[in-house]
Amino acid sequence: MPCTVIAGGFWGDEGKGKIISYLALKDKIDVCVRTGSVNAAHTVWIEGKRYAMHMVPAAFVHDKCRLLIGAGANVHVAKFLEETELANVKSRIGVDQQASIIEEKHSAQDKASAHLKGIGTTGWGVGPAIEERVRRTAKLAKDILELQPYLTDVAEEANSAIDNGKKVILEGTQGFMLSLFYGTYPYVTGRDTSASAICSEAGIGPTKIDEVLLVFKAFMTRVGAGPLPGEIPKEEAVKRGWFETAAGTGRERRSAPFNFEIAKKAVMVNGATQVAITKLDVLYTKCKGARKYEDLPAEAKEFIKEIEKQIGVPVVLIGTGQEVLDIIDRRA
Ligand code: IMP
Ligand code: MG
Repeated sequence: MPCTVIAGGFWGDEGKGKIISYLALKDKIDVCVRTGSVNAAHTVWIEGKRYAMHMVPAAFVHDKCRLLIGAGANVHVAKFLEETELANVKSRIGVDQQASIIEEKHSAQDKASAHLKGIGTTGWGVGPAIEERVRRTAKLAKDILELQPYLTDVAEEANSAIDNGKKVILEGTQGFMLSLFYGTYPYVTGRDTSASAICSEAGIGPTKIDEVLLVFKAFMTRVGAGPLPGEIPKEEAVKRGWFETAAGTGRERRSAPFNFEIAKKAVMVNGATQVAITKLDVLYTKCKGARKYEDLPAEAKEFIKEIEKQIGVPVVLIGTGQEVLDIIDRRA
């Protein structure tokens, strides 16, 4: 455990928020570093209440956890302030002074660009904000008055936590197939989303990582344009209970069955040591709320075994419902 990277294996929306919030509570995580930007909404259900966090790390549910936003991230100041208030985490959240800022103008540029519209971006302006950073004209967190109380050196904090044997999670955003390098270019997000990039954005070197936990959903979904192998029509998705709308933008998600070839490639490039499968109860309704592997119906166990056989990595966590504790935990 000490330092675990959590990355998405498909097109985002695999349930990283649920897995991270579970680990935060169960393992009493000390530090959680979020990467990426406001385009990702990480959903957490706790005691019947739903949070869709765009900025605050999903480990906020554990009230002793220090929450950090890495230097590689893009901070949406208004959303950050709104969510820190909502989650009541002002006293324990920090932003790296070198994180860059995503502004309203970036969102306007995103929405005005015919090309980006064709890709079906979330419209938050993450691509344009990254362009601005690359041009060396971006504002940084240290330039923003409202962020002064939160400024810190995330690399310093996170590395010293690891060196002191504390439990640290690096929270990735989006999924492998949305990676600028490995995804379905040009139908991708503006950055690499793999485990190495998550480490880089957080300021943690690869030798400090103990586990890479890759999160897959039991079926695949995708919002926006671009290929989705095995895609089924919306009516069929509704019939199967796979139909979802996006937590962030409310857009309809397209869906397809679990794809072993994509999963294998994602495991390889991320260097995954462990895998989580979420929403198993959507494929096999008898799994709903199960918290023990033995309680799963035979066909659900077969599916999990098949995944392990094909990808060569153990499935350690299995999601069986929306609540944070609806999980089968098979770790030793
Ligand atoms: P952008 O990241 O807003 O530029 O959008 C680029 C592509 O990534 C679009 O297909 C978006 O729908 C997708 N995307 C970005 N963030 C997320 C996410 O958090 N979940 C799922 N899809 C995302
Ligand atoms: Mg999401």
